[in-house]
Amino acid sequence: MEQKLKRQRALVTGASSGIGKAIALELGRAGADVLVNYLRGDDEAEAVAAAIRGSGSRAIAHQTDVSQEDQVIGMFQRMTAEWGGIDILVNNAGLQKDAPFDEMTLPQWNTVINVNLTGQFLCAREAVRAFKRQGKRLEVSRALGKIICISSVHEVIPWAGHVNYAASKGGVMLLMKSLAQEVASLHIRVNSICPGAIRTPINGDAWQTPGALQSLMSLIPYKRIGEPEDIAKTAIWLASDDSDYVTGASIFVDGGMLLYPGFEDNG
Ligand code: BGC
Repeated sequence: MEQKLKRQRALVTGASSGIGKAIALELGRAGADVLVNYLRGDDEAEAVAAAIRGSGSRAIAHQTDVSQEDQVIGMFQRMTAEWGGIDILVNNAGLQKDAPFDEMTLPQWNTVINVNLTGQFLCAREAVRAFKRQGKRLEVSRALGKIICISSVHEVIPWAGHVNYAASKGGVMLLMKSLAQEVASLHIRVNSICPGAIRTPINGDAWQTPGALQSLMSLIPYKRIGEPEDIAKTAIWLASDDSDYVTGASIFVDGGMLLYPGFEDNG
């Protein structure tokens, strides 16, 4: 495989499982060094880092709660201390705390907003500060830096029973687009990937039984569940100069979930 991201340094949040893990591994295969951020699961994070090292890139596992400002600042300082800076941030860490609206507690609301939205703000801010400090390295990329936000189809599809999650992803959409506008003239590219239903632990209920998987298909015109690698391949493209003219875009990788699937049978 051509190593499109050779000598680039990437930080992936929430990289010990699911979509973040797949992106971290794919970045490593594409030649990037990867800081594998995680909150829980030392062994899983270490295993991801070891697999990346096995593919010939450098990798370190680093525990940080992305919703905590001091910890995020410390994580970026580590990146600078280890590798001299950062070229690619993948803002992936996210979670769900689902509840019917009138039963949703303030901690359920706050946890989701703090991790999914404030966490993306804190990491993106440190990345922009680092990009500006570092200056361009034209030998590795035309851009000064790249930020990839992992959003969701629920940045536009309302989601009953998940108001906190949908609000956080709607927030990510305009965080991403406003930031993209603000830093475009510096040649910092900021984009989102909006996954549909991807086979990861976050939505096990939706695919672990044949019945659940069958009813999920009524929401997916392409009639298959997404795999983490579907997202990882898009992330590599967004991180590379192949997408150098793309900024401020929400790229939906969802098997057509956004296409009003209720109408696929003639409405
Ligand atoms: C959610 C999943 C859900 C998918 C499609 C994602 O953002 O995290 O739980 O299956 O959207 O609804």
